[in-house]
Amino acid sequence: MSAGALPGFRDFYPESFSQRSWLFDRWRHAARGFGFQEYDGPPLEPLDLYTKKSGDEIVGQLYNFEDKGGRAVALRPEMTPTVARMVASKANALRKPVRWFSMPQLFRYERQQKGRLREHFQLNVDIFGEADVSADAELLAVACTVMRDCGLGPDDVKARVSDRRLLSAILRGLGVPDEALSAAFGAVDKIEREDQVALVKRFTTAGVSEEVAVKALAMVRASDFDALRRDFAGHAEVEEALTRFDEYRALLTAHGVIDYLQLDLSIVRGLAYYTGIVFELFDAKGEFRAICGGGRYDNLLQALGGVDMPALGFGMGDVVLGELLKARGKMPLGSADVDVWVAPVTAEFRRSAVEVATALRRVGARVETPLRDQSLGKQMKAANAAGARSIVFVGEGLRDRGEVEWKDLRGTEGTQTVIPLARLTDAVKAALAATP
Ligand code: HAM
Repeated sequence: MSAGALPGFRDFYPESFSQRSWLFDRWRHAARGFGFQEYDGPPLEPLDLYTKKSGDEIVGQLYNFEDKGGRAVALRPEMTPTVARMVASKANALRKPVRWFSMPQLFRYERQQKGRLREHFQLNVDIFGEADVSADAELLAVACTVMRDCGLGPDDVKARVSDRRLLSAILRGLGVPDEALSAAFGAVDKIEREDQVALVKRFTTAGVSEEVAVKALAMVRASDFDALRRDFAGHAEVEEALTRFDEYRALLTAHGVIDYLQLDLSIVRGLAYYTGIVFELFDAKGEFRAICGGGRYDNLLQALGGVDMPALGFGMGDVVLGELLKARGKMPLGSADVDVWVAPVTAEFRRSAVEVATALRRVGARVETPLRDQSLGKQMKAANAAGARSIVFVGEGLRDRGEVEWKDLRGTEGTQTVIPLARLTDAVKAALAATP
């Protein structure tokens, strides 16, 4: 027995491959529904594409090496730097706003844990060239539409949303100096994982008083926008961010996804490039890691391609979403791959069976026919094992009268009809159109 796949890598046997395809169909359908166009980029990129902007966590997880030409390269751990480069280098030629999506396989040398593998597929949905909050609302609507299309409603999944500009404004309003903001963001990011003493220490080490630290942490935990409005009345920067949020909420209502929304200032997003509204999707029971994460990153195109263009997007992985769908019984089992089994009743009719199979494939049916002589009993079993919906018997009837027998394999009764070959193709076509 040879060694299995590397740790954190998956073999996709047909059953799991068909689940992957089911998910990809939902991803594609939702993104296309909002007018997004599909693209792809190289799976191997120059190492410095990531070391510049991705943030320490991802850089520490890179699969990188020197290629035979002496170049420092890395397997892509995320899609954002690639798409930012692609858009920046054609910025003038593209119709704005640019709405693009992709479903790349990504590679991160992660510590093994639930919901984290060393490769995963990630739906990336990004918008370029629009600074208005309407783009932020549309982006979240795409993510929520995927949830809905997968059968996950607002009781199953929550979109936890914050705005980095609002959090900065609040922290500044409380008296956190600019040079301590990044440490304060770091503390907020750890709010669910560290105790109060450790969190406060992150502030005080950066020169912020304990009193301010405690107040800031309490405000983030409460994430009560009415209270913020009262506490920061007259504070222009906070008011501006809150007004933007009001418009965001109104648009999410219009998109029909407002029930997914949960305001949560503790969502900071680890990646270094985010600048505005940020969000993560979680299962409502809090049993799984993030399903999806993203937000606005208005400065990345400038940093990577010297182009001043606002941008925002999200990444949704297949691993956590797949686990959640399975846990909630919403992931379909591998679907049947065969519509019709064409059975020669004896070896004499094998070629006729191939001809019948060919005629059925031409009307769009998925057809299997045996590759060796088999008794009808064996063929019936094989047809059932293949998940075939019906079986067509090819024998003397076809030779003498141009007829075949067609038997329905679903249900217990299994109706059987004798039908001229010419009508069989129409009947199979109609049966295919009638089944989902
Ligand atoms: P991210 O938060 O690193 O963001 O990843 C987004 C999602 O991908 C996560 O919420 C998770 O579902 C999935 N994911 C990430 N790493 C793994 C892993 N090792 N195993 C399984 N699933 C994983 C980004 O990657 C950003 N570039 C997203 C983005 C696109 N921002 C703007 N546009």
